[in-house]
This record gives sequence, structure tokens and C-alpha cells, in this order.
Amino acid sequence: MGFYDDYNFDGLKFFSKLQDKTWITVSKPCQKFLSVINQLKTSSTLTVAEVGIGFGATALQVLKMLRTDDVYYAFDFEDRLQDFASDLQARDFGITCEVVLAGNSHNEWDSYNWNLSNMIFRMRERKQAGIFDAVYLDGAHTFLHDGLAVCLLKELIKDGGFLILDDLFWRYSNSKLGQKHSGGRLTREQMEDYQVLRVQELFLSNDPNFEKLSPPNAYRGVFRKRPR
Ligand SMILES: C[S@@+](CC[C@H](N)C(=O)[O-])C[C@H]1O[C@@H](n2cnc3c(N)ncnc32)[C@H](O)[C@@H]1O
Repeated sequence: MGFYDDYNFDGLKFFSKLQDKTWITVSKPCQKFLSVINQLKTSSTLTVAEVGIGFGATALQVLKMLRTDDVYYAFDFEDRLQDFASDLQARDFGITCEVVLAGNSHNEWDSYNWNLSNMIFRMRERKQAGIFDAVYLDGAHTFLHDGLAVCLLKELIKDGGFLILDDLFWRYSNSKLGQKHSGGRLTREQMEDYQVLRVQELFLSNDPNFEKLSPPNAYRGVFRKRPR
């Protein structure tokens, strides 16, 4: 039984993939991200981000949870975000929060990191100390992309805000799709490595400004930025 089996996605291009068994690995929401948002909902308005939205398994539940003044940022390829936005326009899911689309191209060296870096520049101009209350990073799963993403996100997260890293023990060698996309791009050692775990250990686990909340062998890393 899939999480979205009871939903009516007829005529929707993007969300209908959540009922397609081909995409089973990205058809369930990230409960950890939902529970962090639930925990934060007692405070003032929230600004949250999902970096890599897949087919919206987590996004849809987050959007349904957020309130009118809350803001949800979606980072992904721009064509994917357009399909996501079209489905949200086409069907009333009872969503009231603001949705911000931060899309990037498919050019080989492009990624969500460009948009994240632009947000930092704007934030610094406004002398703001952080934008996001919670971020769920579930994008490319490469050291190349997500190492930089974590460095950027650490500044974009507010004091007391959360950063969740997914798939700490995912590796390219164990995934058919991963093998297809990494040909000629990664060495055997890099394909065998847990690249998101590498990022966590290099940039978060030893950072005194972040408290690690997840246990050592958890599949998801959960961190909270300490108040200054
Ligand atoms: C595992 S899926 C995300 C699943 C989603 N978080 C969920 O809970 O359903 C990974 C996502 O990262 C996006 N992604 C991977 N590399 C990217 C890049 N270079 N730029 C933008 N998005 C990228 C993919 O398009 C895909 O939507």
C-alpha cells in the first residue's frame, strides 16, 4: 500500500508519478521533516525549504501543514518545478501558504547552489541573520553538489533552525539510476562512498554552531543551529 494510493491525481502530470511503482523510492514523505515542522509550528510564521523535491511526496504534505503566512521554497530543476506548480494550480489541495519556486537549468555545472548563493547575497544586503527555520536537503547526493549546498545552507538557516540531510548511506554503486548518471563522472571509490555522509562529517558533525540530534547510524542527519 503506497502512501498516496488514496489520492486522486487523475490528469496531473507531476503528482501522478507518486502512484507509479517505478518511482516507489521517492513516493513517501520524509516524516522527520514533517515532525520538525510540527515542532516549530508553535512559534511564529515559518519559512522552510526542500532542496530536491522529487515528485512532491514530501512537498505535498509540508504544503498542507503550513499556514497562510508561512513560506515554502522548492529548489530543483526549473522544468520539474513548472510541472509541480501546474499541478498545484490545477487541483485544490487546501494549500494556503506561499510557494516560492527556485529553479535551475540542466546545464552540467548548474545546480540549486547558484540560487542558494544568490539568497545569501540578498540576505546579507538586508542584514538578515538567516532565512530558513528548517531545510530538507535531498538533492543530487554528490559531494560536489551537496558539500557546497551544506556550506551555503549553514548561513541561510536561522539560529535555532533545523537542517536535515537525507540518504546518508546511499551510494551510486547501489542504484541503477545512480550508475547510469555517474558514468565517466565518478571513480569506483567515489561510487562506493556514502557521499552525503562524507558531507555531514566534513561540514556539520564537527561544527560547534550546530547540535547533532540524530543518532550515529541514522539514515538521516538532523542538526540544529545553536542560538548565538
Ligand atoms: C531523491 S529526489 C527528492 C525527493 C523529495 N525530497 C521527496 O521527499 O519526495 C532528488 C531531487 O533532486 C533533484 N536534483 C538532483 N540534482 C539536481 C541539480 N543539479 N539541480 C537541481 N535539482 C537537482 C532531482 O531533480 C530530484 O527531484
